[in-house]
Amino acid sequence: MSEDQWCEVDYRLLREQARALLSGQTHQVANAANLSALIFQEIPGLNWAGFYFLEGDTLMLGPFQGKPACVSIPVGGGVCGTAAALGKNQRVENVHDFDGHIACDVDSMSELVIPLFKEGRVFGVLDLDSPVPSRFSARDEEGVAALARVFEASVA
Ligand code: SME
Repeated sequence: MSEDQWCEVDYRLLREQARALLSGQTHQVANAANLSALIFQEIPGLNWAGFYFLEGDTLMLGPFQGKPACVSIPVGGGVCGTAAALGKNQRVENVHDFDGHIACDVDSMSELVIPLFKEGRVFGVLDLDSPVPSRFSARDEEGVAALARVFEASVA
């Protein structure tokens, strides 16, 4: 499915909404909870949106919207663990083609994971799943990464 079949997300507006929502609040769990709710509400075609936070060598489930999910993911494992290990965004067109993908929800077909940084080190990831193959374009990646930067700034 191509991007133009979606109602285009106004990422500039969404970033401003995120800034307003998180402003004046530095609590990591509270801000992750509110941002995952905003993302899930405003970006069409998602079945999961949420956070994992690093504890040692493990990503532990944080606030999210969607079905119950895998609680812990080893760094280097799955799409989330790969994003955390490499410190690089992972935009996966078809999760079934991603070696080691962890299927929390069998409906998920495509995935976008943005690593989160504090003082140059990864401290978690922002993860979006879609039941639609190739849901996420380069534009979505850029827009969601900007939201991740808003979150990082809010908890810095
Ligand atoms: N699919 C992810 C696991 C997390 S869930 O999608 C919520 C992965 O492979 O890391």
